[in-house]
Amino acid sequence: MKLKLRPGTREDAAACGVIDFEAFKSISSQHNFPWDFPSVEAAIATTTALLSNPGFYSVVAELDGKIVGSNFLDERNPISGVGPISVDPSVQNQTIGRQLMLAVMERSARRGFAGIRLVQSGYHNRSLCLYTKLGFDTREPLSKMRGTPPSLKFAGYEVRPATEADLGPCNELCRRIHGHDRGGELGDALKQARARVVEHLGRITGYATGIAFFAHAIGETKNDIKALIAAAPEIGGGGFLLPTRNSELFRWCLQNGLRLDQQMTLMTIGLYNEPAGAYLPSVLY
Ligand SMILES: CC(C)(COP(=O)(O)OP(=O)(O)OC[C@H]1O[C@@H](n2cnc3c(N)ncnc32)[C@H](O)[C@@H]1OP(=O)(O)O)[C@@H](O)C(=O)NCCC(=O)NCCS
Repeated sequence: MKLKLRPGTREDAAACGVIDFEAFKSISSQHNFPWDFPSVEAAIATTTALLSNPGFYSVVAELDGKIVGSNFLDERNPISGVGPISVDPSVQNQTIGRQLMLAVMERSARRGFAGIRLVQSGYHNRSLCLYTKLGFDTREPLSKMRGTPPSLKFAGYEVRPATEADLGPCNELCRRIHGHDRGGELGDALKQARARVVEHLGRITGYATGIAFFAHAIGETKNDIKALIAAAPEIGGGGFLLPTRNSELFRWCLQNGLRLDQQMTLMTIGLYNEPAGAYLPSVLY
């Protein structure tokens, strides 16, 4: 059997979406966890969005001419982000995942990214071992939280929709907290009117591209993040990611009715700074 890797195109969205759905469903079901994609349509919508966004590189694996897997690299920021990766359940554990990972890692190195991030499902031994063998370091346990944002107001923390003029201050804040900005991702969120900023004492002290699985947030303090969560119209994508070691924020979420879905793992290669502030990573890191 001959395996071929090639860049993905929009025409691959349906085939890749079906495999994403089936691959994630089979591993979640084996562990009695909720499915990552609630339906095959939701998975196809995600692969369509990724394959249509020029900020993402994609790689498709074909076995004897039939698509059997795909992987994506988020290239919108100075640090690249991997995923979602999936391999047809009928041909898993036969090195296709390793080759799909090597393809995006080589692409990232060729493009000169300072580092790579990914978020791994904590219960999935195979992906944890594969990524670790490929050189990724475990950085942070993450809790995927779902539910309805608490309807609270924080005196002195005003949340409002972000505008183009906020891009500079938000990127500057991100550089202070993460050591790099996430301007490409924030730019996309601004275009889609998803981004919000929080202001405290007359200046921007945090922002969110959404409170969702595919969105990130940063804040100088935990209060900035609490205000952004409380002001969110909804929690998108089945849940948002919270660094579990941020016990105060985790406890606050639990006390306010949010529920824990599963543990995930933030893993990195290359440049990584311990964040100098509060943050919520996206599933792409
Ligand atoms: C994760 C996934 C993409 C991996 O692809 P794959 O083709 O099955 O994996 P591979 O065969 O390339 O690699 C598996 C590696 O893990 C190792 N491995 C698996 N289980 C292991 C265990 N319990 N202990 C140690 N090593 C283990 C294998 O030996 C292999 O290592 P090697 O490449 O050095 O030989 C695939 O299983 C999948 O689609 N899963 C469902 C979707 C998913 O979970 N995506 C990732 C979300 S984080």
